[in-house]
Amino acid sequence: MTPPPGSVEEARLLLASELEEAVREAAARGGLLPADVQGLRVRWLGKKQGVVTALLTRLRDVPKDEKAAFGAGVNALKQEAEERLARLEAEAEARAAAAAEAAKAVDVTLPPRAFPTGRLHPLTVVRRRIEASFRGLGYEVADGPEIESDWYNFESLNFAPDHPARDAVDTFFVKGGGEGRDALLLRTHTSPVQMRTMEGRKPPIRVLCPGRVYRKDDIDPRHSPVFHQMEGLVVDEGITFAHLRGTLAAFARSFFGGRAEVRLAPTFFPFVEPGVDCAVSCVFCDRKGCRICSYSGWIEIMGAGMVHPNVLANGGIDPERYTGFAFGMGIDRIAMLVYGIPDLRLLFENDLRFLDRTW
Ligand code: DAH
Repeated sequence: MTPPPGSVEEARLLLASELEEAVREAAARGGLLPADVQGLRVRWLGKKQGVVTALLTRLRDVPKDEKAAFGAGVNALKQEAEERLARLEAEAEARAAAAAEAAKAVDVTLPPRAFPTGRLHPLTVVRRRIEASFRGLGYEVADGPEIESDWYNFESLNFAPDHPARDAVDTFFVKGGGEGRDALLLRTHTSPVQMRTMEGRKPPIRVLCPGRVYRKDDIDPRHSPVFHQMEGLVVDEGITFAHLRGTLAAFARSFFGGRAEVRLAPTFFPFVEPGVDCAVSCVFCDRKGCRICSYSGWIEIMGAGMVHPNVLANGGIDPERYTGFAFGMGIDRIAMLVYGIPDLRLLFENDLRFLDRTW
């Protein structure tokens, strides 16, 4: 039998079914929370819109002889609602307290959380290894600007005015298109630091100058418009080609391993005389010939030579009294070689899948 609409009996049945429904529905998410019960309380017992309050305001429309029974019915309903809600509330609070406690507990069976640490970039690792090899021979590390004048980058280093390296096709000019010694450009090699070092101090000089250099190269697996070089300069009385050769041989053994040998072949650089290309015996095949050394047994790693007297003079050093040698190598190229990195771009793209290896 359905109770008459608007009756207390109807409201009682509604209360029961609504609360059961709420409990059932909340079961899937672990049960009612205190906030859910609060919502139900407002709906049923709220002072303004609550169902029970609404019934009470209807009391004045109830015929006189039914008022007493109606009033008693509403009060009984109110009490029932209060009791049921209080029970649900207690359960919800106990549940919330248990959840808070569980959240605090330490699950000792969980694996430890990974603690991510940074790593050195492979170029930094290689630069530091090269520096360490030369520090053992008494070298200091010097620094120079990346924006250079034509004088430091070219003219003082004995580049003829029409030398192809000065061409605007290869060089990024910042000010002046290669005209005059005051033109500014992005240095195309670390050799200008040789000149700045000679100006700044007296022999004996033994310096290493690492840094970024720039050339107008299109980006491909072996080229980048910005890359890294390591320059070396030694100036003192009585420095000979034998010192250069011995130094490069010592570096090769220290950097590539005790069996590494060097081979020097004559070549031309304007700032040295004689100039050489320096190759190191292939450490991958022990000179037998492999893919890495193009089956030659040797890998070219740097240019070097005896500092040209004009360069010494430009640096304020008396070429009659002092001699010196210089060398320059590509850090990126050496990193690719020792780590088997197939593409230069990997060094510049900051992809963590690459950087997060152990170098
Ligand atoms: N500056 C040269 C280059 O960028 C490398 C070089 C060659 C540096 C011979 C030197 C040297 O100091 O003696 O290709």
